Amino acid sequence: MNTSTFFEGLVHEDRVHRSIYTDAAIFEREMTHIFGAVWVYLAHESQIPKADDFITARLGLRPLIVTRDANGQIHALYNRCTHRGARICRTERGNARTFQCAYHGWTYFNTGKLRGVPWPEGYACDFKDAKFNLAQVPRVESYRGFIFGTLNLDAPSLSDYLGLIKKPIDEWLDRHPGGKVEVREANRLKFKGNWKLAYDNAADGYHVVFSHRSLLEMENRMQEDPTKGMSFYMGKPDEAPMYVQYFGRGHHFKDKRPNVAKRPGALWELEAAHPGMEHFENSIRKKLGEKAGRALDLAAAEPVNINVFPNLSILGNHIQVFQPLGVDETDTTWYATVVVDEAGELGGTVEDVNALRLRTQEAFPNFGEVDDAANFEEIQRGLAACEDEWVYMHRGLGIPGRVRNEPDGTLKAPATDEVFMRSHMKEWKRLMSTEPRISVVR
Ligand code: FES
Ligand SMILES: [Fe+2]
Repeated sequence: MNTSTFFEGLVHEDRVHRSIYTDAAIFEREMTHIFGAVWVYLAHESQIPKADDFITARLGLRPLIVTRDANGQIHALYNRCTHRGARICRTERGNARTFQCAYHGWTYFNTGKLRGVPWPEGYACDFKDAKFNLAQVPRVESYRGFIFGTLNLDAPSLSDYLGLIKKPIDEWLDRHPGGKVEVREANRLKFKGNWKLAYDNAADGYHVVFSHRSLLEMENRMQEDPTKGMSFYMGKPDEAPMYVQYFGRGHHFKDKRPNVAKRPGALWELEAAHPGMEHFENSIRKKLGEKAGRALDLAAAEPVNINVFPNLSILGNHIQVFQPLGVDETDTTWYATVVVDEAGELGGTVEDVNALRLRTQEAFPNFGEVDDAANFEEIQRGLAACEDEWVYMHRGLGIPGRVRNEPDGTLKAPATDEVFMRSHMKEWKRLMSTEPRISVVR
């Protein structure tokens, strides 16, 4: 098979073939050519802050244990016993220097090295041979707390891979005291659909008023004020100052910040504060008086979607992770983040800010993501109609001046444009047609 011609036939400028969402063989290839060949988000450093902390994760379908060893070094170990293949760690997270396989008791250090096997006199081999150590991801790097891994020895550095999308990530982090957040627990959803349906939707400004109508109405009813929440999507979103931007390598950005006045407190005013939040807001206002705006803004959802191909979306105050489970099954996990205020910048209000912030972070996964997941499942059902082959993503295509080529090489377009989708599909096609040099170390 000439793979390049094959994928050319599936991804056109204006449309893609249904099979890229439904074909099990294409999905299997994605697990090496995408989830293996590019930097994939694994976990956040704040989830394993201390020596010997660990958390389980996945790289595509590969089960991993992300560990921090006694020297502070982070490893992404395959959670797969070298003996007969059982997962050696069956709890989600914890603190451990060693992992013992429950099947026959082989034990490994959290660096991946085999520590020992029961009754070794029954073996003629040398267990010092590295082939008995756990496999691990050869390249693991962090960017400001976000841990990524790749099996691709030829991949650029993580910093180069992220490229221009580092700017919105930096801005998202730098609004917090100390320029950082800590990751907490999550809303976990699963949908019966292909993982790309979620990534295609990650900067989609076209669906908002239709798909999330009940959420928009609820946000505005909460305070009998029609300007709350995502109300800037009402009317004609393309005429609003927000925009969508494509950064290359599949990364994109929906920037809704220009809809919000640039003064402390303006973002909080937009938040659809709901009953039960008054106590925390009052407490912050009492402590900080006229300076309460900045603290309250940290509790309000930051109006950005920063999408790092293929599996990470930083949106509002969440970190959302897309985890493919099969060609038509995906986990979407929304990790809450909290503010840490080591230098006391928030005048003793950080507990109130985080209490409010966790309430505002409950809203979208509960009331919005379910709308999106229902759409993804409906698409997967619709795509079962095999003679009806094409999926269109040509909104904005062919209209002179609509998509702007910026001097930095990025593309900018009005909020409902599908240029970001067309662009990440081109990158998908390129990756699927390229043979990566992937390997593990032991
Ligand atoms: S499969 Fe792990 S010790 Fe046998
Ligand atoms: Fe949505």
